[in-house]
Amino acid sequence: FQVPPAVNEPVKSYAPGSDEREAVLKQYKAYFAGSEDIPMWINGKDVRTGNTRRIAPPHDHKHEVGQYHLASKKEVDLAVETALEARTRWAAMPWEQRAAIFLKAADLIAGPYRAKINAATMIAQSKTIHQAEIDAACELIDFLRFNVTFMTDIYHEQPDSDDGIWNRVEYRPLEGFVYAITPFNFTAIAGNLPASAALMGNVVVWKPSDHQIFSAKVIIDVFREAGLPDGVINAIYGDPVMITDTLLAHADFAGLHFTGSTTVFKNLWKQIGENIHRYKTYPRIVGETGGKDFIIAHPTAPTKQVATAITRGAFELQGQKCSAASRVYLPKSTADGILEQVREDIASFNKPGSPEDMSNFVTAVIHEGSFDKLASYIDRAKEDSDAEIIAGGGYDKSKGYFIEPTVILTTDPHYVTMEEELFGPVVTVYVYEDAQWAETLKLVDQTSVYALTGAVLSQDRYAITEATRALENSAGNFYINDKPTGAVVGQQPFGGARASGTNDKAGSAQNLMRWVSPRLIKETF
Ligand code: ALA
Repeated sequence: FQVPPAVNEPVKSYAPGSDEREAVLKQYKAYFAGSEDIPMWINGKDVRTGNTRRIAPPHDHKHEVGQYHLASKKEVDLAVETALEARTRWAAMPWEQRAAIFLKAADLIAGPYRAKINAATMIAQSKTIHQAEIDAACELIDFLRFNVTFMTDIYHEQPDSDDGIWNRVEYRPLEGFVYAITPFNFTAIAGNLPASAALMGNVVVWKPSDHQIFSAKVIIDVFREAGLPDGVINAIYGDPVMITDTLLAHADFAGLHFTGSTTVFKNLWKQIGENIHRYKTYPRIVGETGGKDFIIAHPTAPTKQVATAITRGAFELQGQKCSAASRVYLPKSTADGILEQVREDIASFNKPGSPEDMSNFVTAVIHEGSFDKLASYIDRAKEDSDAEIIAGGGYDKSKGYFIEPTVILTTDPHYVTMEEELFGPVVTVYVYEDAQWAETLKLVDQTSVYALTGAVLSQDRYAITEATRALENSAGNFYINDKPTGAVVGQQPFGGARASGTNDKAGSAQNLMRWVSPRLIKETF
């Protein structure tokens, strides 16, 4: 079968006065004024336990917009039972039927659910319409459509045969269930992790982040309307320790599809190791975790280009991207001009504010824990003699969790914010001697345990070549003359190594291969 060729979903502009903008704002206002009661989703049914937790937008945290229901062990067990019951029929469903469900889901998001998924992402994750559009609408649509293309490529990949021999490979799903744990920062990732495993014929127990459930609910509504059979994906919320302990103790646990923090992923890996004797099959472990993503500018890099890479790379989405630029290396000869431009760019932004106002470049960080952590690093930089705040540095959590875009300049290449992941709109800059280009490349490589994204900016092709080689293990996604963020599905498969993950590239056939257990059949005539 040929499937419709995947092309990237065009990003809508939401220009002032446009119908598309009015539709999202109307939905946002309705959500804001309303009170959603969000159940879990098990065996295709809404499950409410009455044990609930409130939901408030990060930019207006005293204002409640709803609540969600928390699982007890009973619901977690039910989710696994249900998934395993659904498994046989789902795995036996012809792949083009599975593909049709996810292609329809993509069309639903592109059409009737677009305003809803964007508005819910504005509420839950404090993204502006434009940010929500890129993430919740376009990237999720792209994941769903491109995964179908990748799947068909995989299924068509067959071994050679010979006279009297027919070799063929069946790409069967894993023997058990997949546990998907998704982060708050991208609605697209929340949808993609359960969907990609399910597309390959697996059944899934999905635990979205507590801070993304408002938009996860729209994804569930879409999957439902697209005709996903009951029990194929089951969404449960609540205590991560209890949920994980229950799921990982199960003999049918067959795979983990994770995006989140390095610490949590390492603990999960350890726990899987401790339970290994229980499992029927060696589980697949796929994780995309932290980052300490770099920009290094060569003396030949144009001032404005470097400044834009810094401001966009570090501050878009409040720096809450695993790919966000958070450590920057500038040459002494051009550093002053670049930093002056960065300061100008930041001064032209509004103060961090509500995502409803599209002219706000920076909105709120996700929760109080994140706010407090960022504020403490900012305070520390204000006091430390080897660091100086040269832009921003303000914060206020009275209404929302607002942190100003902040630039720290340090004289110590190993200063704490050059090494630790902060996950917010704070970037640290170190200035190197122009003559120390090669040494600085080494420093960039050796400073961080992470290897997710990085960027080199230069007009000198020798310098680009040197950086590309010297930093070959420092970033899974390496950008030349660009910011280190904004990977597009189907164009830049995304993922990193070292402490940043298993590098199974979200949005690639390689990722989907992790969710199959191929059987080779040799038939002799
Ligand atoms: N995939 C996202 C990016 O590239 C995280 O910025």
